[in-house]
Amino acid sequence: MRLDLAGKAVLITGAGSGIGLACARAFLAEGARVGMVDRVAPPLLPGEVVVARADVTDETEVAEAVRVVAESFGGLDVVVGCAGVSGPVGRALADTSAADFAAVLAVNVTGQFLVAKHARPWLGRGSAMVFLASDSAFVAAPGMVPYCASKGAVVSLTRALSVEFDDVRVNCVCPSVVDTPMARGDLGDVLDDPAFPVQAADDVAQHVLYLASARSRTVDGQAVLADFGMSARSGFPA
Ligand SMILES: NC(=O)c1ccc[n+]([C@@H]2O[C@H](COP(=O)([O-])OP(=O)(O)OC[C@H]3O[C@@H](n4cnc5c(N)ncnc54)[C@H](O)[C@@H]3O)[C@@H](O)[C@H]2O)c1
Repeated sequence: MRLDLAGKAVLITGAGSGIGLACARAFLAEGARVGMVDRVAPPLLPGEVVVARADVTDETEVAEAVRVVAESFGGLDVVVGCAGVSGPVGRALADTSAADFAAVLAVNVTGQFLVAKHARPWLGRGSAMVFLASDSAFVAAPGMVPYCASKGAVVSLTRALSVEFDDVRVNCVCPSVVDTPMARGDLGDVLDDPAFPVQAADDVAQHVLYLASARSRTVDGQAVLADFGMSARSGFPA
């Protein structure tokens, strides 16, 4: 499929690791220009890259990082919100504090809101935002209450922003477990069990590229669930 992303100006949060880094590599491979925003220094990538440090929970830092990237490229065509944390995975609800809950929402929800707010003035007609939500917006495992709540909010944020903007498409991707440092940290070697369906960061990046490209021009306000069909199965005993 021809994506026609060459020369596009792309800003990616959470570009220092995992899915965000895979997105940066995939956009660069298409000839796009990439602004890598993260609270940590990302690896050096070949191509037209601008690096800007920001904690996505800090409005001043987000505004400045967006400005640096957008001014370098003379505007933005695509914004990808990947920065996220899993929070206290596996912790019982009784041991989860309000501060734990708020910390997850601050990065996963407020962080996406702030990037959308500050990138909006730099985006023109035909541009696109793509957020990383998760299958955890729709299904749950025990011990993931803050994370599931945050990803449900990203799906609603996506819909609300797609209605808010009439010239910017806004969609989100909702992958099941992806082999990244985040998932390795939470789940460890279970990711190597062939019975456990795990996707690669580049699988997710390819969905992001499609949603960022004009090939998906009729798709707006949607949550693309990529979970190997797990959530489609009923409880019927067959
Ligand atoms: N790995 C999975 O199984 C999986 C599945 C579904 C959705 N996701 C989502 O994909 C996104 C990327 O996750 P990943 O697995 O690549 O994780 P990761 O930990 O490998 O990468 C996350 C990146 O976000 C950055 N980040 C975290 N908090 C930040 C902050 N406050 N400000 C700026 N940058 C910050 C980190 O520094 C890191 O570079 C997240 O939103 C995550 O919830 C991951």
